[in-house]
Amino acid sequence: MRIYLVGFMGSGKTSFGRKLAQKLGYTFADLDERLAAQCGKTIPELFANLGEAEFRKLEQEVLHQTIADEDIVVSTGGGTPCFFDNMAWMNTQGKTVYMHLDAKALASRLEHAKSPRPLLAGRKGEELLHFIEEKLTERQAFYQQANMMVSGIDLTPEKLLVYLEADQVR
Ligand code: S3P
Repeated sequence: MRIYLVGFMGSGKTSFGRKLAQKLGYTFADLDERLAAQCGKTIPELFANLGEAEFRKLEQEVLHQTIADEDIVVSTGGGTPCFFDNMAWMNTQGKTVYMHLDAKALASRLEHAKSPRPLLAGRKGEELLHFIEEKLTERQAFYQQANMMVSGIDLTPEKLLVYLEADQVR
């Protein structure tokens, strides 16, 4: 089975995805990590050098590469489901899971996050919260097309597996 984790920046897709893949004995792919490794550049460098539109094309290519594995957990970027037909594509290739957190929880995580995110550069405090509220509202329509929505707070691989089984794992 392919499991695609979607959700806003800071929702914990990468660290949770890694744990889930380990628990299942599946391959793990973080789209940002794969993209950075393939291009030999960091995500902020790719944004700065190519611009967002080009970044989104490369991101889609890396997403499409995930069909090479039958059993894989994929941590997508926060914007991945919101461009092209990516959300519909993921829904046809596997099971999609929206890791949901509200804007306040995301802001407090992102305020202290170590990995730099181009879309958040220079934003702090109230401005950061306001930006997240607006972006989340805009993106919710895509995230909500996922096969299932789970709270990103205290999510464990065990809990997710129970939800997936209840929904009859393909
Ligand atoms: C982005 C999220 C980032 C990364 C890029 C753009 C977005 O991934 O792909 O900075 O548009 O939300 P994470 O969700 O892993 O931070």
